[in-house]
Amino acid sequence: MESGDRVLDIGCGIGRMAIPLMDVLTGGSYEGFDTSKTMIRWCDRNLSSRRPDFRFTYAPIYNRKYNPFGTIDARDYKFPYPDDEFDFAFATSVFTHLGIEDSTRYLSELSRVLKPGGTALVTCFLLGGSGRPSRTDGLPFNFRYEFGPLRSTDADEPEAAVAFPEDLLLELVESTGLEVDRPISYGRWPEIDRGPDVQDSIVIRKPVGA
Ligand SMILES: C[S@@+](CC[C@H](N)C(=O)[O-])C[C@H]1O[C@@H](n2cnc3c(N)ncnc32)[C@H](O)[C@@H]1O
Repeated sequence: MESGDRVLDIGCGIGRMAIPLMDVLTGGSYEGFDTSKTMIRWCDRNLSSRRPDFRFTYAPIYNRKYNPFGTIDARDYKFPYPDDEFDFAFATSVFTHLGIEDSTRYLSELSRVLKPGGTALVTCFLLGGSGRPSRTDGLPFNFRYEFGPLRSTDADEPEAAVAFPEDLLLELVESTGLEVDRPISYGRWPEIDRGPDVQDSIVIRKPVGA
């Protein structure tokens, strides 16, 4: 990432990415959005107050876990930014809380708002493929329940922790015109249930000329 980059943080939470980026983005800009009003308010008070070029937007999207009072479906949400706007986007631990239609929409929106040549870092849980277990019985995260074509650890609140069959996620990403860097960097979730490198990390690029 360069100091002049325009950065988007999808599901920015309480600024876990924004805070270290304050030292990096000296000439660029940062936009974060999240469906939690409380977290956005906290970021406004504690981060935008110090750095007005770091902007946080509340998105009134329904999420059973994070915003049960939301009025918009994630599958219909248009990111509030123009096309080809960002050099870099984060979605850390966000696709872990979305269903299949929401994820499809978010990847398509990511493709729209990234500049050609732009990059995104997405963390998630992947199943199957060459490097991940297909069955999770006895593991710290047991994705034992079906959630459409995805899997979840929780039958009553599937958005608590969602996993994607790896092939399906790669297909979805590529169907939006984006490309996935290989090899994928796999996290440690089959062994541990917390820590910075628990989730799988995917680097996604929007091809130049797209
Ligand atoms: C586990 S937290 C991760 C927060 C942050 N990205 C981080 O890495 O610290 C998941 C975040 O996603 C947000 N979220 C859930 N559904 C969302 C949606 N449809 N659009 C945007 N944010 C969403 C939640 O409010 C929450 O802040």
